[in-house]
Amino acid sequence: MSSRTSTIKFAISHVPERLPVAERERRLANPGFGRIFTEHMVRILWDSEHGWHDANLMPYAPLSLDPGTSVLHYAQAVFEGLKAFRQAAGGVSAFRAEAHAARFRNSARRLALPELPEETFLDAIDVLLAADHKWVPSAAEHSLYLRPLMYASEVSLSVHPSSEVTFLLIASPSGSYFPRGVKPVTVWLSEDFSRAAPGGTGAAKTGGNYAGGLLAQAEAAEQGCDQVVWLDSSEHRWVEEMGGMNLFFVFGSGPAARLMTPALTGTLLPGITRDSLLVLGRDLGYTVEEGRISVEDWRAGCEDGSLTEVFACGTAAVITPVAAVKSSRGSWAVGNGEPGQVSMRLRKELVDIQRGAAPDRHGWLYPGRVSSKS
Ligand SMILES: Cc1ncc(COP(=O)(O)O)c(C=O)c1O
Repeated sequence: MSSRTSTIKFAISHVPERLPVAERERRLANPGFGRIFTEHMVRILWDSEHGWHDANLMPYAPLSLDPGTSVLHYAQAVFEGLKAFRQAAGGVSAFRAEAHAARFRNSARRLALPELPEETFLDAIDVLLAADHKWVPSAAEHSLYLRPLMYASEVSLSVHPSSEVTFLLIASPSGSYFPRGVKPVTVWLSEDFSRAAPGGTGAAKTGGNYAGGLLAQAEAAEQGCDQVVWLDSSEHRWVEEMGGMNLFFVFGSGPAARLMTPALTGTLLPGITRDSLLVLGRDLGYTVEEGRISVEDWRAGCEDGSLTEVFACGTAAVITPVAAVKSSRGSWAVGNGEPGQVSMRLRKELVDIQRGAAPDRHGWLYPGRVSSKS
């Protein structure tokens, strides 16, 4: 039970007929990602006159939108993605819910949307997990993916910050990203496309950033690569991110390894996994820093052996090793193509904390009100 005071009162309406247990278990056995959803959702409305109001837990259902709804035209919308894990000692906890609440506010501010108080964000998670905690899978590395989102719901074709906004929280059981073991990826360095530019929306979690990246991802696939790597938009020289994940570079090996991740310049998404690994890397005794790396230095480091591992990190896959790089200027391998020792050690450390198999020494698990439920 959280000691926080509730900021808004939720009206609770349960689905009239819950799915039979056997059917829920069948769906949970092989959930994939983002394909199935739980039985409830949270909706909270905002308008410029009343602020946040009308908070509801309701049956999960399609939305009915007027074709003139602002978000369909001008994309004034933000979202988050976090996971709730079944804990080794029982109960369910969401990983770094407070940090996701803070990033959701920052994204909203950048998109001229109202900021949802962090307490209300957490309350929404409590209310949904209390209703749907049985949808949290129990298999290793499976989780309940929580997707908070907010969009301009005013019906208007004039371009202005919406005077009506809808917040939703939905949840989707999610399987292991690597069901057959961690698999390194090959990346394509995108020189024709940019994900973000100074002054733009790169640091916000907003749909337009992802829509704008799809063509570059398709180009990467055409080049036989799994993922696109984004470079800075002016020189196409400085490494920023990989697809929907942040990047880490490991120099040296063993206890003397040094970890570097590109600094948050305003064009990168400030990943919560990135932040967690900066902390855990230090805990494990590595030298850890935020800096910058050029494409030439990435290649030279791999060729002279000083750069031993590269990995991407994010909520979906935790850590994905990068095995090879392709670009119009050449291709090269990273290490021996296998997941590196430092990458896998960090991965285990984080996964163990997430599912309560290692002490939560940084207070990252949010048990909410469902901690007593199994
Ligand atoms: C563009 C981008 N970068 C990085 C990340 C990693 O962020 P996080 O670790 O918070 O999932 C994500 C995923 O949310 C993303 O979409």
